[in-house]
Amino acid sequence: MALGRLLHGDPQHDTDGTAIGHGRGYELFTTVAFGGRRDRVFARLAALSGARPGDRVLDVGCGTGYLTRRMATAVAPDGTALGVDPADQVVDHARRLAAALPGCTFERGIAEELAAPDASFDVVVSSLMIHHLPAGVRPRALAEMYRVCRPGGRLLVADFRPPESRIGRHLVGAATGPAMEHNPIDELDGLVRDAGFTGVGVGDLRPWMRYVTGVRPAERQDPA
Ligand SMILES: C[S@@+](CC[C@H](N)C(=O)[O-])C[C@H]1O[C@@H](n2cnc3c(N)ncnc32)[C@H](O)[C@@H]1O
Repeated sequence: MALGRLLHGDPQHDTDGTAIGHGRGYELFTTVAFGGRRDRVFARLAALSGARPGDRVLDVGCGTGYLTRRMATAVAPDGTALGVDPADQVVDHARRLAAALPGCTFERGIAEELAAPDASFDVVVSSLMIHHLPAGVRPRALAEMYRVCRPGGRLLVADFRPPESRIGRHLVGAATGPAMEHNPIDELDGLVRDAGFTGVGVGDLRPWMRYVTGVRPAERQDPA
């Protein structure tokens, strides 16, 4: 069985996504997988999100809250960072890790049906979550991120970029399962554009992340 699959939790009945069920195991697995670059990569993602002190940030599929905590620091002292994830166990774990961080909170929630009101965040971020969703659910998740982002607000979505070599992909598949091995990362910027975001930018971060940034137009422009 792929190692990554051991980290999956019980099925969450309000989402078709694959929830993570073991916060501590996930932390260990991810730390190893980033090969010492995790902190640098997530600090860069926080910077690329464009979040500023005082902003309200939402982190969708926050897991143990690694990015959420960096976002909370970026928007301190008056801003807030809320992380949502369907897995109770990782939400509890995230709360414990952020207990001393003002303005950093966590709730149970799913990407395809966010509980937040329209236009309630200045910045929406999401890392390594989209590949957990079935392909048919991904546009809904991006549409929800658009809905809760205020006009003029910013989006940053990052996800796993599979290796180009077949052997590399095979090793990823053996370690984590097919969702990461075959992750259609080249579709990510199209999903962001189709949701209505403009000024879309794309970049890669080593060892294996791609990020896409966008802006919700100040005036509503319906997706084509
Ligand atoms: C690989 S983890 C990434 C966690 C964190 N964002 C990070 O970068 O470390 C993917 C997360 O997506 C969550 N997830 C799965 N289905 C989801 C859904 N429908 N909505 C929101 N999050 C979901 C999982 O529970 C898991 O915590």
